[in-house]
Amino acid sequence: MNIGILSRSTQLYSTRSLYQAGRRRGHTVHVIDHTRCSLVIDENGHQIFYESALLPVLDAVIPRIGASVTGQGAAVINQFELMGVVSPTSAAALQIARDKLRCLQLLAQQGIPVPRTVMVGPYGNTEKVVDLLGGFPVVVKLLESTHGIGVELAGSSWELQRLLDYYFQHHDRVILQEFIEEARGADIRALVVDGKVVACMRRQAQPGEFRSNLHRGASSFSVKLKAEELELVERVVHTMKIDVAGVDILPSGKGPLVMEVNASPGLEGIETTTGVDVAGKIIRLLEKKVKAKNQL
Ligand SMILES: Nc1ncnc2c1ncn2[C@@H]1O[C@H](COP(=O)(O)OP(=O)(O)O)[C@@H](O)[C@H]1O
Ligand SMILES: [Mg+2]
Repeated sequence: MNIGILSRSTQLYSTRSLYQAGRRRGHTVHVIDHTRCSLVIDENGHQIFYESALLPVLDAVIPRIGASVTGQGAAVINQFELMGVVSPTSAAALQIARDKLRCLQLLAQQGIPVPRTVMVGPYGNTEKVVDLLGGFPVVVKLLESTHGIGVELAGSSWELQRLLDYYFQHHDRVILQEFIEEARGADIRALVVDGKVVACMRRQAQPGEFRSNLHRGASSFSVKLKAEELELVERVVHTMKIDVAGVDILPSGKGPLVMEVNASPGLEGIETTTGVDVAGKIIRLLEKKVKAKNQL
């Protein structure tokens, strides 16, 4: 197969891991910086130029789209989809996953448990909202946060107002969430390939920190999901119509809650923590999808 990894750098762990996994299985692999792609649309069909050259014909792409370029990345995936190129992540799924509110709305609509969440606007009554969330502290999140940047804990009206004033000044969109204290800075990352959980780790935030992102120095170890959690994760990816994802679960007194879905999950933490060859599984998923498409 001819596989394109949509990534801005060949130096990133996930890009390298996917590249090597593709080569190991005998495929030709190209790393394509989606921010350098020009999409040509006319009545004769669709084409993609990489800088000044027409891209080779690809069988499949693997999107590794950074949070700062979601719109451009989604447009490129969409163009590939229109050209009949297989992708484990659709443009639509990427965009839903990247918008925390839209993602939670969709999951909650399907009866999937999520932390109680309120979208606030610049003129809302914040006191009322805090009451709705069971009082302070509350979690304040930017809709497009990543690596825990833009996720804060507000312990008082004063702290909350200071954060909201800052975010609204910068025209950011913000959600407030009940703080799940009993999680004690831990969460579970389940890596899904082809609709099934293939690797799973528990992440524990550093002392004094509630965010369990590995980028914030959290530690991680391999775990096995309980049947209830496994079923929950599979319902999430089915609802999101996404084949490859990192699903984050927060343990709570009410049972497991789905916190977010990562459409381009990092592979370094999960592969090194669990020893599972996630990249190899993604390549095999592409082989299966391309074969199924060619049989149509
Ligand atoms: N409602 C919450 N209650 C307790 N901890 C939370 C809550 N929301 C987020 N966290 C912690 O903060 C981390 C980052 O939040 P998350 O929504 O995943 O944002 P990001 O996309 O930046 O990773 C989570 O991994 C979790 O440890
Ligand atoms: Mg997260």
